[in-house]
Amino acid sequence: MKGVILVGGLGTRLEPMTRITNKHLLPVWRYPMVYYPLYTLVEAGIKDILIVTGGNNPGGFLELLHDGREFGLEHLYYTYQSAPRGIADALRLVNHFINEEPFVVVLGDNIVNGSISPYVETFREEPLGARILLAEVPDPHRFGVPAFDEDAEIAEIIEKPADPPTSYAVIGIYMYDRQIWEILPTLELSDRGQYEITDVNNAYLERGALDYDILPFEWTDAGTPESLRHAVELARTSPFLSELPIGTQD
Ligand code: DAU
Repeated sequence: MKGVILVGGLGTRLEPMTRITNKHLLPVWRYPMVYYPLYTLVEAGIKDILIVTGGNNPGGFLELLHDGREFGLEHLYYTYQSAPRGIADALRLVNHFINEEPFVVVLGDNIVNGSISPYVETFREEPLGARILLAEVPDPHRFGVPAFDEDAEIAEIIEKPADPPTSYAVIGIYMYDRQIWEILPTLELSDRGQYEITDVNNAYLERGALDYDILPFEWTDAGTPESLRHAVELARTSPFLSELPIGTQD
C-alpha cells in the first residue's frame, strides 16, 4: 500500500509563525511536525510515500527528510501544489504516483497517539471504497463531523458545523480505492474556496462505500495556537511519540 502526506497550505491560523516557515516544519516537542505523520505511515508498514508540498519553504522537506533513510526508507517522493486549493485538490496531484492502487493519506498536521496499523490492515485485506477514522474531541465544530443514523452508520459528514451533531471529528487519515479518481473531477469549490475532503467522503457515502473506525487513543491536529500547544504536550508526554524509534541520516 502506498502513502501520501499533505504539507501544502499556508497555515494562516498560525500566522506569523508560518509567514516564512512551512507549518509542518515547526517544532512539536523534539521533532519537526512532519515527522509524526511520516512515522505514522512508516510504523503501519507503508514504505512508498509521496509528500505533497506547497506554500512556504516547499524545499525544506527535501532538506529535512532527504530520501527518508532516517525512517528506514529507500526513497521518498515529492510533488508540489502550486496554490492552497484544498486537501482534495492536493490529492489530484498524486494520481501519477498512486495509479489505480488503494492508498492512505495523512494530513501533515495530524498527530496520533497510537498505531494505525490495524486499520490499514483491514483496508489492505479488503481495499474497497473508503475508510475514515473518527476521534472524540471537545471542539468538533473545528472539523469534519459525522452524523449517525439509527444503525450507527454515518448518514452525512458536515464540514465545520456550527451546531455539531456528535462529538466526533473525522481525523486527517483517509484510505481510498480507485473510485477517488472518478469523484475528484466532480467536486465544486466550497464557500472557503477549497476542494473539500469532506465532499470526497460524502461522495463515497452516497455510493455506499464508506467505512469508519473509532480511534481508541488520542488524536490532535496542530494547526492553531491552541492545538499546536496541545500537540507539543501530547508528544512530550506520550511514550509512543516522545522519542520516535528512528535512525540517523548520513
Ligand atoms: O485535521 C482534520 C481536519 O482536516 C478534518 O476534520 C476536516 O474535515 C478537514 O477539512 C481538515 O480541516 P482543516 O480546516 O483543519 O484543514 P487545513 O486547511 O488546516 O489543512 C490540513 C492539512 O492539509 C494541512 O496541514 C496541509 C494540508 N493541505 C491543506 C490545504 C488547504 C494541503 O496540503 N493543501 C491545501 O491546499
